[in-house]
Amino acid sequence: NTSAQAASKQNAGYRSAEEVGDGMIVGLGTGSTVFFAMERLGARIREEGLSIAGVPTSYQAAIRARRYGIPLTSLDEHPGLDIAIDGADQVDPALRLIKGRGAAHLREKCVCDAAERVLIVVDRTKMVETLDAPVPVEVLPFAVETVSRRLAALGADPVLREGVKKDGPVVTDNGNFIVDCSFGAIGDPDRLEAEIASIPGALECGLFTTYTEKITVIIGEEKGCSVV
Ligand code: A5P
Repeated sequence: NTSAQAASKQNAGYRSAEEVGDGMIVGLGTGSTVFFAMERLGARIREEGLSIAGVPTSYQAAIRARRYGIPLTSLDEHPGLDIAIDGADQVDPALRLIKGRGAAHLREKCVCDAAERVLIVVDRTKMVETLDAPVPVEVLPFAVETVSRRLAALGADPVLREGVKKDGPVVTDNGNFIVDCSFGAIGDPDRLEAEIASIPGALECGLFTTYTEKITVIIGEEKGCSVV
């Protein structure tokens, strides 16, 4: 992260927090950009008496939210969320996304699906003409070999994600593995998402193509932001 990128992330995160109104139930995504949103929400709770509750999408998001003083709730308590704020790894002009660098996309997709509005907070480097980043797929450990074969048949070069500070596979907050799949430039992301979803044991992939209607993208710049 350059300091310009950090400033951009901060601007996007802070701006998104202004969209949250009193009484709202807020989906809290995972990643460095959303953490700026949480920091600002925490400040608004303290300074304005804003009353909200957040549904965290990961242990990391829950720990941060607690640190910033954001009360937490669950999807069980609130199956319908007013708004969700989340980051992304790539965004295309139709507002389709690749997510999951932080291995949190399974819960992030549940929260995105449950939310009325979704704010995606990114810096300009995430905006692309064609999605081409590796697509993370959360996989049931029992089925990792069969799922990897099916992903290869779809044109991927599937790689089991391994830990940085741990030997062996990364285990997600849900107890599963992550297989990162490079497809190169993805010509038809909607179809690819549907094809991956049809593989037994592929629990969720990082392509988000079906929520474009409710997504607003806040692109942080070094100074200020633009909204798409
Ligand atoms: C988490 O698994 C991802 O979906 C993140 O939302 C995404 O990687 C964005 O992270 P940054 O805001 O840290 O770039």
